[in-house]
Amino acid sequence: MSPVLSARGVTRSYDHPEGAVEVLRGVDLDVAAGEVVTVSGRSGSGKSALFALLCGFDRPDAGTVAVGGAPLPAVPAWGDCAVLPQAMGLAHELTLAENVALPLRLARRTGVDDRVAELLAELGIGELADRYPPEVSYGQQQRAALARAVAIRPRVLLADEPTAHLDHGSVPAVLGLLRRAASEGTAVLIATHHDLVHAIADRRLAIVDGRLTTTG
Ligand SMILES: Nc1ncnc2c1ncn2[C@@H]1O[C@H](COP(=O)(O)OP(=O)(O)OP(=O)(O)O)[C@@H](O)[C@H]1O
Ligand SMILES: [Mg+2]
Repeated sequence: MSPVLSARGVTRSYDHPEGAVEVLRGVDLDVAAGEVVTVSGRSGSGKSALFALLCGFDRPDAGTVAVGGAPLPAVPAWGDCAVLPQAMGLAHELTLAENVALPLRLARRTGVDDRVAELLAELGIGELADRYPPEVSYGQQQRAALARAVAIRPRVLLADEPTAHLDHGSVPAVLGLLRRAASEGTAVLIATHHDLVHAIADRRLAIVDGRLTTTG
């Protein structure tokens, strides 16, 4: 099957006072529809930097990123590539429900309220739908940001440390949602340090010295 998300020879350096640091040194990646792939790597190895390049938040110095075989446009549609950023990135002037609804409203989908209510309930934050992000915990914000990312059933989902702020009790619902997104056809790429998350993956990769290698 042809990959939905692919990257070839992606490099990225950052300028620091002590000189440029080449964080990504030629990343090659393919993720197919319906596949869950996890990426590990020590803190600072470049997982979040790579995700920013894969969703168009940032541009590589060299190399290519494609979704559905087409080069990533300057502003990818949320339905093509949806992101759960490590910093979550919820709009603080919108309630949790309004945040989750946003990609659906932008894409003029129908049945928005039902989809939002179903996702929030599944993640155990249905009663917080009308609260604003600063009025809930980080773990609750993280689940709302995940609901926002999966709501539109995107072709590609990039989830950066989706369990970082969660208590153990909330982890199964999040993992179940990520697996279900894949079963509905989304190509799912997850950055994580957690073994429980690696356990749901079809393939496991790691960033080592700026490149992706297969670990299992
Ligand atoms: N915009 C930027 N400007 C300068 N340096 C950056 C920028 N983004 C990332 N870096 C550098 O790139 C390296 C990789 O950072 P990144 O956030 O991708 O790590 P990570 O693997 O996601 O780590 P963690 O597991 O802690 O989330 C770090 O050394 C960081 O300082
Ligand atoms: Mg990171």
